[in-house]
This record gives sequence, structure tokens and C-alpha cells, in this order.
Amino acid sequence: MSTERRMNVNKVTTHVLQAMKERGEKISMLTAYDYTLAKIVDDAGMDVILVGDSASNVMAGHDTTLPITLDHMIYHASSVMRAIKRALVVVDLPFGSYQGNSKEALVSAIRIMKESGAHAVKMEGGEEIKESIQRILSAGVPVMGHLGLTPQSINKFGTYTVRATEEPEAEKLIEDAKLLEELGCFSLVLEKIPADLAERVAKTVKIPVIGIGAGAGVDGQVLVLHDMLGLNTGFHPRFLRRYMELYDGIKGAISNYIDDVKSQDFPNESESY
Ligand code: KIV
Repeated sequence: MSTERRMNVNKVTTHVLQAMKERGEKISMLTAYDYTLAKIVDDAGMDVILVGDSASNVMAGHDTTLPITLDHMIYHASSVMRAIKRALVVVDLPFGSYQGNSKEALVSAIRIMKESGAHAVKMEGGEEIKESIQRILSAGVPVMGHLGLTPQSINKFGTYTVRATEEPEAEKLIEDAKLLEELGCFSLVLEKIPADLAERVAKTVKIPVIGIGAGAGVDGQVLVLHDMLGLNTGFHPRFLRRYMELYDGIKGAISNYIDDVKSQDFPNESESY
């Protein structure tokens, strides 16, 4: 998109995102978990940076997002916050930090906001976490919702396949989206659901709807940074567009370095004191 079709803002806020939806400008969102990559993502002009609990997978090597803790999320979020100048930074509340008890949910959200300086939190679920969302919103913390495939519930779902393909689940998802809007969430992520359902939700609610594996009819797109850069191997869902093959590029550079050390080509005279 040419720059004149982008909102020219120094700092992205939740109000800026709302204005983008209203003027039909798509919202760009990517994950980041550390200072160095967050700085590149922000310098490139990203609207929203998500400190996702996918850090559990891509940074820590776990199979699911369940093991990551609130302390880990605060560590990642603080690193990202030191890097960014423009993007709105949203941090996932990790599994176990908000589901059972709304008071504990508020304590978790406040710790993230105070200790990292992030701008908002994201929470997975609808009706079942209504009280936690309400309490966090009432403390003035912006909340982004997350419906569809919610990876913190993987043990309930059993698989990472497309959600809400059947009418009852699709209807519940629409009701949950309306509820999140009514409660005051500023935005909503829809993960891995049929494109026509996602478009219906984006047209039904007034808040921005960001999709991942939810087609083109939503208000913005999010991907996991490490996936779109091709930093990992063996993860090729249909919704993922890889913009680089960094795994191969980095591996090649590292094996060249090993060769240069072994052959004594590195360091040469100009690289020595
Ligand atoms: O944790 C994460 O990266 C996410 C995105 C997949 C939306 O929640």
C-alpha cells in the first residue's frame, strides 16, 4: 500500500486502529518477543506487535503455549517495549493467569502493564471468561479478544484443525464476538476459522477484527514472526505465507563460519589487532 493510503501516525493507539477499520485501511500485526527483532518490526512500520504466548513454542521449544508463565511473558514484553517507538504492543495473558478467577486475572494484567509498560493484553475465550475481561477493562486496561482456534485450549480441542465449521460452534463464536464488543474489548483476533464466517463477524462488530487463517474479509492480519520469516522448518499451514527462508540462510552462514574457522581463513590480518 502506498504511504498516502496509510494513516500517518507517530504512535498507534487503540483509537487509531478503530479509525483504520472505519476508513477501510487494513491493520498489520506480527508477533515479536525480543528487543532486536521487535526493533526491526517497529522500524518497518508495523501497526501492532503481539508479544504472543507462541513464545512458548518458538522461543522456548515447547509443543504448546501452556507452559509459559506470567514472569516469562513480562520478560519478553519488557524486551519488546525497550525497542518500539510506534507500534501498539499487546501482550498475551498466559494460560492459568486469568481463566479461573477474575481477581487473579486483574493482578496478572496489572503486572504486565506495570512491569513491562505494554499497551494492552490479549485473552482467549468468550462468555466463559466474561468476568475476568470485565474486571480488567474496568481497571482501564485495553483488552483484545481471541476466538476460534484458541491454542490454550488445545487439550480440549485435541487438534489444531480449523474451528467453527459446524453451525453450533459458528453461532457461539458470533455471539462471543458480539459479547466481547459489548464488554468493551478494543479488537478481536479470529484464528483458523472459515473465511466467510470471519467476514461475517468483521461486518457484524464495529471493533477491528484481525485474522490468522481467517481469510481476507477481516480488518487486518497477524502472523507469527518466526513462521513468516521461515526461521523454523516443518510448519506449513495453508494460511502461512513465508516471506523469507531464514532457516536455510542462517544455517548456510553458520556453516561458512565453521569452515572459515577450521581452515584458518578467519580471522585474517585485517580482522586482527
Ligand atoms: O500467541 C500468538 O502468537 C497468537 C497469534 C497466533 C494470534 O496468539
